[in-house]
Amino acid sequence: MFQNKHIVVGISGGIAAFKAAGLVSQLRQHGADVHCIMTEHAAKLVTPITFGELSGNDVIVDMFANISKWDVEHISLAQMADLFVIAPATANIIGKVANGIADDMLSTTIMATKAKVLFVPAMNTNMYENPIVQGNIEKLKTLGYFFMEPEIGHLACNTVGKGRFPELDMIMEEMEYLLSGNQLLQGKKVLVSAGGTKENIDPVRYIGNRSSGKMGYAVARAAAMEGANVTLVSCNRELPVPVGVHAIYVKNACDMEKVMNEFYEDCDVAIMAAAVSDYRPVTEAMKKIKKEDCETLTINLELNPDILMGLGKKKTHQFLVGFAAETNDVLNYGKRKVEKKNLDMLVANDVAMDGAGFNVSTNIASIIYKDLRVEQYPKMSKNDLGKIIVGKIAENLSKR
Ligand code: PMT
Repeated sequence: MFQNKHIVVGISGGIAAFKAAGLVSQLRQHGADVHCIMTEHAAKLVTPITFGELSGNDVIVDMFANISKWDVEHISLAQMADLFVIAPATANIIGKVANGIADDMLSTTIMATKAKVLFVPAMNTNMYENPIVQGNIEKLKTLGYFFMEPEIGHLACNTVGKGRFPELDMIMEEMEYLLSGNQLLQGKKVLVSAGGTKENIDPVRYIGNRSSGKMGYAVARAAAMEGANVTLVSCNRELPVPVGVHAIYVKNACDMEKVMNEFYEDCDVAIMAAAVSDYRPVTEAMKKIKKEDCETLTINLELNPDILMGLGKKKTHQFLVGFAAETNDVLNYGKRKVEKKNLDMLVANDVAMDGAGFNVSTNIASIIYKDLRVEQYPKMSKNDLGKIIVGKIAENLSKR
């Protein structure tokens, strides 16, 4: 994937600058042509010689160091880049780009590039969570810049919190995704649901299911990599939000229905990968139910809305995709759902099979189309299945 790709690595002045050396080394080992641009602060933390040696190319720090070549370098790096990664990205460089400030070689080159730009923020938790920084990140995301979320852990300032530079293989994986997309869904608005809804019984108990959200996140990520504007309606806060995806968190089926309906009219593709609870308690106890108070406990349940069915009923231009979690007679039940819920496509998985369905990283699925044609796929990672699903959606959209 990285072979002969031109990768520009921008290193800004965070303490994690030394970790970028590992990233540059890995990229080069994978065959990439790596060019490094450092801010002056970064060059105080790690010497440019390190990045020069590891990348095999000259490192640029000072815009005016070699004035005769300046124009060539600043524009040519911006133009030649297949991908631009800013690692670590400080609050300062994020703020500059968000506000159109181009006053050094790194900010100027970011401004001049049309390549995808991936920011890898790493900083003190309070800085990261500062509304100004978060506002700048949101602004850049809506402008099409990509962001990884920092990890939670021990930070250089000797505190524990969100702000750690992510593991190198996670960054490499995100970069691989950004390089692999063909922009098949460029300009399309994609709405995805993920995870298992939770229906409260009382303040400490709920009715839920084993969905981890992995399948929905994989589809959302694959759609973002194909250039779509992706809104993910998720019940799981534990998974990292894929690069380029806007997440909205919900708890129960009624909340999910509300958010899905809100975004549905304006979307081009809607994908219900979530495992939605079919029932909810008729009443939710306001205080914890005490076992001393009742020897046996009966909880009356009422039907939840069928969100997908509702979307199918009011479908106009949207390409509507459902999932089916079955344990037997998967294709027949799947076909019935395609017809009953007015779907364009359905992904049926046999959740009783090893390595398929809930809370694993792989899946075994069949795709059933509107005309009830079936394509069956072997066991594969949910990320790979997500790519196939998105590819098939794009193929069908292009025929419309
Ligand atoms: O999250 P993971 O751990 O990665 O697991 C992935 C998965 C098994 C949850 C996923 O692959 C999957 O199969 N999702 C759909 C689960 C499901 O609820 O299937 P169903 O056959 O009960 O429902 C059919 C379709 O109707 C689904 O698209 C579902 O989202 C939707 N539905 C169901 C009930 C309901 N009240 N409203 C709905 O919209």
